[in-house]
Amino acid sequence: MLIDGKWVDARSGKTLPVEDPATQEIVTHVPAAEKADVDRAVEAARRAFESGPWSRLSPAERSKMVWRLGDLLEQHADEFAEIESLDAGKPVGNARNQDVEGAIGLFRYMAGWPQRLAGETVPVSSTGDWHAYTLREPVGVVGQIIPWNFPLLMLSWKVAPALAAGCTIVLKPAEQTPLSALRFGELVAEAGIPDGVVNILTGYGEAAGAALAAHPDVDKIAFTGSTEVGKLIVRAAAGNLKRVSLELGGKSPAIVFPDADLDHAIAGTADAIFYNQGQCCTAGSRLFAHKSIYDRVVEGVAAQAGKLKIGHGLDPSVNLGPLVSKDQHDRVSGFLQSGRAEGAEVVTGGNAIGDKGYFFEPTVLAQTSRTMRVVREEIFGPVVCVQSFDDDDLDAVAKFANDTEYGLLASVWTRNLKVAHMMARKIKAGMICINAHNYGDAAWPFGGYKQSGWGREMGKEVMEHYTETKSVAARL
Ligand code: NAI
Ligand code: MG
Repeated sequence: MLIDGKWVDARSGKTLPVEDPATQEIVTHVPAAEKADVDRAVEAARRAFESGPWSRLSPAERSKMVWRLGDLLEQHADEFAEIESLDAGKPVGNARNQDVEGAIGLFRYMAGWPQRLAGETVPVSSTGDWHAYTLREPVGVVGQIIPWNFPLLMLSWKVAPALAAGCTIVLKPAEQTPLSALRFGELVAEAGIPDGVVNILTGYGEAAGAALAAHPDVDKIAFTGSTEVGKLIVRAAAGNLKRVSLELGGKSPAIVFPDADLDHAIAGTADAIFYNQGQCCTAGSRLFAHKSIYDRVVEGVAAQAGKLKIGHGLDPSVNLGPLVSKDQHDRVSGFLQSGRAEGAEVVTGGNAIGDKGYFFEPTVLAQTSRTMRVVREEIFGPVVCVQSFDDDDLDAVAKFANDTEYGLLASVWTRNLKVAHMMARKIKAGMICINAHNYGDAAWPFGGYKQSGWGREMGKEVMEHYTETKSVAARL
């Protein structure tokens, strides 16, 4: 692990195994950090923040280092794609074109922020002569806990803006996928970033993650993962009232209106659920099709599922890899059992594949309804639940789509501009896509309403997470 610029083992000497989810072979072992390691890393980050060379760098120098990380990722892009494929089971082409490319873009976008993080002069009206202004200061030492579905990309969403703001970092990747974060750790020194600014701890959530979330000297915690753990993070953060941002689960609706370009909508809504084996927080897991086109949509999405080539992600012809872990495979299988028991019709898929590796068939469930567990809970696998709507009243359609405790993303498929933009207003979600799904861009704020989280990442909004506003008033 990387602590204070040095590669170290866990104090306890404990390790955790890293598995290739396509073969179930153990690839290597990495340190299993615990509280003692978190304490060391936070101390290093605190020193680097308060008194190290990092705190004296000019915005332009910081900008250059963040940009350099993007360049270094680009130089090693194929290697990172292979690591992600091996560790998370991703098709290597997707890893290269989406995960790694996205991470490079994020570092480059964020590299533009240090020189633009300006305060304001404030036109106050108090009696007398005043000069009032604000400063934007880095929030301090930040703890960042990320999941396994997009390991390098989630790292970039967290690390790039925090560095741009001038914070120091203790990052904990998911126990299932620690490898790209460790490789990234080697680039940190190459980019010229001083020791202690970026610390990377591998370890289990219950030990390392919980200690980081509760640490009294961490000023802010940024988390992406399950809604359940998000709530634990909020409780742990209460001890010192550290700032919290949360990127949590979803049950995103994809709504297909009868006037949509159906070929496009069918391919797009299939990709919305099958991309990354359905392990996306924004996955289009609730598909709503107008009753007049319902049968065509169900058949079309099932046909798309049939076209996907399933196998080891390192085979470049593969479209669908394994799920990330045995836990995730058990979870998806359990949901299928529940869906069948509650009366869902399995149109295609529904089963595990083979006896080695965590493969699961892309699955379409029809005849689903709002009370079923498969419709209410996040499955996080390649399983879509289709429901029909017969209403042309947009409020009624939106009410149907909003019938969830989540509110991350929604997609609307139509050629009618009025329908598209009226639906964009009526849906309670942080992100709306029109004739697209699973969209993302470094400049486009990402995050959710309701139990999908707190705050927005990327775009200019994310800089709020990593800065404090200081108000200054001078009596003249
Ligand atoms: P998780 O929420 O347990 O794991 C995410 C991260 O949190 C990992 O780094 C983990 O080590 C850490 N963590 C776990 N327990 C912690 C604790 N008590 N304190 C601090 N950190 C902790 O998610 P898990 O168990 O891997 O997956 C379960 C379900 O969560 C998935 O099936 C999916 O529904 C959802 N999930 C959602 C993600 C998203 O992108 N929104 C990403 C990963 C999972
Ligand atoms: Mg968990």
